[in-house]
Amino acid sequence: MKILSIETSCDETAIALLEASGGLSRPKFKILENLVASQIDIHKPFGGVVPNLAKREHIKKMPILLNQMIGKKSPDDFFAEIDLMVVTVGPGLEPALWTGVTFAKELAKAWKKPLTGANHLEGHLYSPLLEGGKLEFPAAALIVSGGHTILLRMKDISNWKKIGETRDDAVGECYDKVARLLELPYPGGPEIEKLAKEGDPKAISFPRPMIYQKNYDFSFSGLKTAVLYYLRDNKTARKADVAASFQEAAIDVLIAKTLKAAKEIGAKSLIIGGGVAANKTLQKSFATAVKKEKLALKLFIPSLKFCTDNAAIIAAAAYVDYLKGKKRKLSARGNLSL
Ligand code: KG4
Ligand code: ZN
Repeated sequence: MKILSIETSCDETAIALLEASGGLSRPKFKILENLVASQIDIHKPFGGVVPNLAKREHIKKMPILLNQMIGKKSPDDFFAEIDLMVVTVGPGLEPALWTGVTFAKELAKAWKKPLTGANHLEGHLYSPLLEGGKLEFPAAALIVSGGHTILLRMKDISNWKKIGETRDDAVGECYDKVARLLELPYPGGPEIEKLAKEGDPKAISFPRPMIYQKNYDFSFSGLKTAVLYYLRDNKTARKADVAASFQEAAIDVLIAKTLKAAKEIGAKSLIIGGGVAANKTLQKSFATAVKKEKLALKLFIPSLKFCTDNAAIIAAAAYVDYLKGKKRKLSARGNLSL
C-alpha cells in the first residue's frame, strides 16, 4: 500500500511517500519521497524553537513540499495512487501539530482518502525498519529525542512496554541547555558533539545521575546544573573539555541503564532512535560497550536522516498501527505518551 505521511510536531516540516508491504512479522518499506524543510535558520536567532514561528512556517511550507512531491503529475493522478494518509498527532508543540492535522484533514476530505493519526515516538521506535532492519525479539529500545528519554522492552514488533523514562529533562533537552550555557548556537546537540571532538572527556568528572539505581529511569537536570556550577566556578574552563566531559557523562548513563535492561530482557536486538541517536560518539560508545560486555545482540541505529525528525518514520508507525487494526483520533495532543 502507498502511504502519504505528514509530520509537523516541532521544527521540521516533513512529507513522505512510502510503499509498505508485509505483515507484523516483517513489515517492509520502500521510500519513494522523504522531504524535510528545516526551520533551523528561523529559530536560530532565538536560541530555541519559537512555537508560533514554527506554526507559521509549517503552514507556509506544507503546500510547497506537497507540490514538490506531486511534481509533474496531476494532483488527481497523484492522489489516485494513495491508499492511506497519516499525520503526527503528538507528542510535540501543539500549535505546530495542529497545522499538520488541519492540512491533512483538508487533503483527505478533498481527495476522499482514509486518514489516521500517528504517535511521533513510535516513529522513532520503528525507524530502523525503514532501512530493512531485521529485528529479532525480544528486544530493548531506547528513544532519545529533544523531549523524551524512554526505555522499552519489546516482546515483538507491536507488543512492548515502557520500563523507564526520564524524571525531568530529556537527554536531547540537556544537550540543548548545556549548549546554551556554552554559548553554542541552536540546535545544541550537534554543536556539542562537534566541540567535544576537540576536548578531553576525562577532564572534568561530572555526575552520572541515577547510574547505580536499580530502576530504568533517568534524570538529566542535575547534570545540566553541574555544568552550570562548573562554568560559574571555573571562568577559564576550556569549553571543549566541558562539552566532551558532559557528553561522556550523559552517554555513560544511557549505556549503563540500557545495557542493564537489555541483559535482563535477554534482548537479541537493541534499537536506538531519536535525534540524539544521530550522535556518532554515542553510536561508537554503544557499539564498544555491547562488544565489551559480550552481549549477543544486534544494534539498530538508523542513519542520520532517520534519527532526526522526518515523515518517513511516521509512515512506518502508521503501517504498524494499520497492521494491528489500530486507529487514532485526529486531534493534536502535545503530551501524547507512548
Ligand atoms: O528526534 P528529534 O529530531 O526531535 C524530537 O522528537 O525531539 O530530536 C531533537 C534533539 C535535539 O535535542 C537535538 O539537540 C538532539 O536531538 N540532537 C543531537 C544530535 N543531533 C540532534 N544530540 C546530540 N548529538 C547530535 N548529533
Ligand atoms: Zn523526534
